[in-house]
Amino acid sequence: MIVYLNGQYIPRQQASIDVDDRGFLFADGIYEVVHSYEGHLFQIDAHLQRMEHGLRSLHIAMDDVQAMREVAERLIAENGLTSGEAIVYFQITRGSAPRTHGFPPAGTPPTVYAVATPYTPQRDQAEEGIAAILVPDPRWVRCDIKSFALLPNVLARQRAIEAGVADAVFVRDGVAIEGTSSNFFGVFNGEVVTAPKTNYILAGITRDVVIGLCADMGVPVHERPILEHQLGQAQELFLASTILEIRPIVRLNDHPVGTGTPGPVTRRIQQAFRDLISDLSGG
Ligand code: PDD
Repeated sequence: MIVYLNGQYIPRQQASIDVDDRGFLFADGIYEVVHSYEGHLFQIDAHLQRMEHGLRSLHIAMDDVQAMREVAERLIAENGLTSGEAIVYFQITRGSAPRTHGFPPAGTPPTVYAVATPYTPQRDQAEEGIAAILVPDPRWVRCDIKSFALLPNVLARQRAIEAGVADAVFVRDGVAIEGTSSNFFGVFNGEVVTAPKTNYILAGITRDVVIGLCADMGVPVHERPILEHQLGQAQELFLASTILEIRPIVRLNDHPVGTGTPGPVTRRIQQAFRDLISDLSGG
């Protein structure tokens, strides 16, 4: 496997990070995840825009963000991933410097890493839906930054696994806000609802795509909080992310959601999403 590290394409075994890297010491940086379908990078412009937002928010200077498109394309090509699906992962840190909380001297180059791996989608989960649990959201208040300080997300996912379900949905101040690595949607009276873009959620690229598809199909969408106490009235629930695409939730906290099977609105959105992907990859 060939990976990208600080301007070089090298075998995975030769890639190494300094122990003083601020990513290692402080989780000081951001990441990004892009889905490739038949070698086509889905929504790459939006992903790079979000990368710029994260870097700007953290005051990490990296001038060649747009070059990450070529990096992703080359990793896909060099690793023989131009057919089928693949996931490109980027991680950028504030670079390497002796440990002190304040920023390292100006000019310290960021560490830039990227890797492309083959991806096999879990079709059964997309078709049949998943069970999930609600968990309290202990995260910081800058969830809009795609920080790789993911300990709350890791612990929440593990709690789900130990509860025998696939995922967890964070609840903050009575609001079911987002999944551990996805945005959260509900269908109420045939209308799609998802949390508004604030600092309490990651502005998901898939979330925007779903909202656009709903608009195209004439399905009403509302960006407003989904309150925990209203969840029992939801006809349908689903998660959306680069990796999961559209994933129905059919059981929540051990109660069936709606009929306990993926609902018609979720199905329509899944189909529209698949059509979009098949247009992207040329049918
Ligand atoms: N996670 N919310 C959180 C907390 C996320 O971690 C993610 C994505 C999303 C959805 O964003 P997008 O649609 O742009 O993928 C929402 C990635 C996939 C991950 O951590 O692997």
